[in-house]
Amino acid sequence: MMPLNEPFDLVLFGSTGDLSTRKLLPALFSLYADARLPNEWRLVALFRREHKDFIETLHKSVGVKHDLNDKKLKSKWASFTKHVVCLSFDATEPDNYGELKELVEQQADSNKIFYLATPSALYGKICNGLAKARLNSLKSRIVLEKPIGSDLASAKKINQLVCRHFKEQQIFRIDHYLGKETVQNLLVLRFANTIFESQWNQKYIDNIQITISETLGVEERAQFYDHVGALRDMGQNHLLQLLCIVAMEPPARFNPDAVRDEKVKVLRALRVLGDQDVQKKVVRGQYSSGISNGVAVAGYLDEEGVAPSSETETFVAMKVEIDNWRWAGVPFYLRTGKRLVHRACEIVVHFKEVPHSIFDLQHKNTMANKLVFRLQPDEGIRLKLCEKKRGPGVSVRSTELSLSPDYLNRKHIPDAYERLLGDVISNNQTLFVRQDELIAAWEWLDPILKHWDESEQEPEPYIAGSWGPAAATLLLAKDGRLWDETSSPLQESMLNEGEE
Ligand code: BG6
Repeated sequence: MMPLNEPFDLVLFGSTGDLSTRKLLPALFSLYADARLPNEWRLVALFRREHKDFIETLHKSVGVKHDLNDKKLKSKWASFTKHVVCLSFDATEPDNYGELKELVEQQADSNKIFYLATPSALYGKICNGLAKARLNSLKSRIVLEKPIGSDLASAKKINQLVCRHFKEQQIFRIDHYLGKETVQNLLVLRFANTIFESQWNQKYIDNIQITISETLGVEERAQFYDHVGALRDMGQNHLLQLLCIVAMEPPARFNPDAVRDEKVKVLRALRVLGDQDVQKKVVRGQYSSGISNGVAVAGYLDEEGVAPSSETETFVAMKVEIDNWRWAGVPFYLRTGKRLVHRACEIVVHFKEVPHSIFDLQHKNTMANKLVFRLQPDEGIRLKLCEKKRGPGVSVRSTELSLSPDYLNRKHIPDAYERLLGDVISNNQTLFVRQDELIAAWEWLDPILKHWDESEQEPEPYIAGSWGPAAATLLLAKDGRLWDETSSPLQESMLNEGEE
């Protein structure tokens, strides 16, 4: 892997927050331990209140992912900490930015990266402060975490505030699902092979399912999550971004604007949902108590920090249609939820059944080809085909080919944040969301949010540890389909064993 050459200062707003400690700081250490950072760089950690023990916090957070007792990593850790500078800083106070400027300008030639791991309501104030201190020169980049806004109007407003001071080529809107290894592999599989592209359309594909299921509940994030819910937290960004990657036309080049031009066309071609469509095509649920990973867990309403009568959804499933030549008539079924039966993220492309079978196929539809992109856990791509069962006669059974066998032997697949942080440092925007994409996603989502706001309909409860509310099963059953719930390699091999 290439080292990222130019010196930089990474100024992290919200250094002690959940995202920084769980994802960003360990990712930064991974890049450092892999010798992927230049010699000159600094992490400028900002936190609101005096935080004397930041290095301890950092040690704890990095230690979750890396064995810091390991001799080699121990010495890496010691040198890593020499790059860390701390500043207690109230980002809402415009006069403070002078002090920040003095600090970051100690390294005159470095690129300045301002990473906003804070609620998006603060983005405008931070950008004003940075601009007032003239920290928005072309040497500066700004990284924005999702969700940006809570609906179309607020997203537009925040964008305007940011764009007043930073040019689009300085703005990195992060969606960490785009940094996952299998997503990039999906792009390569689609656009570096001819065999798939010819099949990649309504003529051969029956439906596409995208599932992001989590076993975790709301954990310590209730204060944030209860105002946000699954649609804004995962749907507006991760699910729609994965949809774009699967459905986009081949870009002319693999460069930031060519790729994003194609993604935005998909978002603009999504069929708009009216009130009645929302009722028919969107399901929202909320987990009640149950068993998760063998442990009894509380329902959402009993979680600490959740309003007792909260109507926030912890699950959403949707049937989405794309009105263009390639995808006319192909439903995309999207779902995500907390406290589901297991943690997985998969994109499953279901091909049509054979038009006429000369073999005795017992379950013709379940024997149709299927291409599975598994983003996590056990990343990889698998193709489900039919083969002859060994022995006398001709009976047909399904089998699976792994299209990514090297994943199984690889020790370390870079974490999404590692990849994306590296891209920010090396100034590559390909895997970041452009302004028009963000707005197009909110434009599509807004009618759903409005309908939920205005209707009296509450989220449907589902038992923690299940696959979500019954209405989600019905959503597909109405179309004569089932969610793909058998596609983990383990379950498939069990199914096949049963057949022998
Ligand atoms: C985040 C959401 O964007 O993604 C969280 O805010 C969610 O609610 C997380 O848990 C899931 O990410 P991953 O990479 O662990 O699947």
